[in-house]
Amino acid sequence: MSERTLAIIKPDAVAKHVIGDIIQRYESAGLHPIALKMVRLSKKDAEGFYSVHSERPFFNDLTTYMASGSVVVLVLEGKNAIAKNRDLMGATDPKKAKAGTIRAAHGASIEANAVHGSDAIETANFEIGYFFPEFK
Ligand code: CMP
Repeated sequence: MSERTLAIIKPDAVAKHVIGDIIQRYESAGLHPIALKMVRLSKKDAEGFYSVHSERPFFNDLTTYMASGSVVVLVLEGKNAIAKNRDLMGATDPKKAKAGTIRAAHGASIEANAVHGSDAIETANFEIGYFFPEFK
């Protein structure tokens, strides 16, 4: 079934100049960008986006990090896009990510882990609407 998911290329990957490599991986896997923008999030923007994690001990560090540099935000569309993107990304902790995944290739730490991807249909709907209200 064709689905949409939200992806973020995080500040570490933007700083490493691997935006093109990451988008190439999406496209090669049949995940087609249908919306894309480069933005510098405020701390408040990052807090709103990651509000599900607001009680976690890493929330402050995570949101400070996400506001530390430019990010690229994309809506990807394709068959089973949510699960497919999670397979492409690999485990949250790059040290545990399988070879060939984006996080194994480009992630430096659990915080600087190169990319974000929605983890379920409900979160994808929220996350897409957060950055692209016209896609709600
Ligand atoms: P992401 O997929 O963007 O979703 C939440 C982010 O929190 C996650 O990737 C990690 O980058 C970050 N994070 C930092 N510390 C942790 C942790 N201990 N467990 C899970 N996620 C963490």
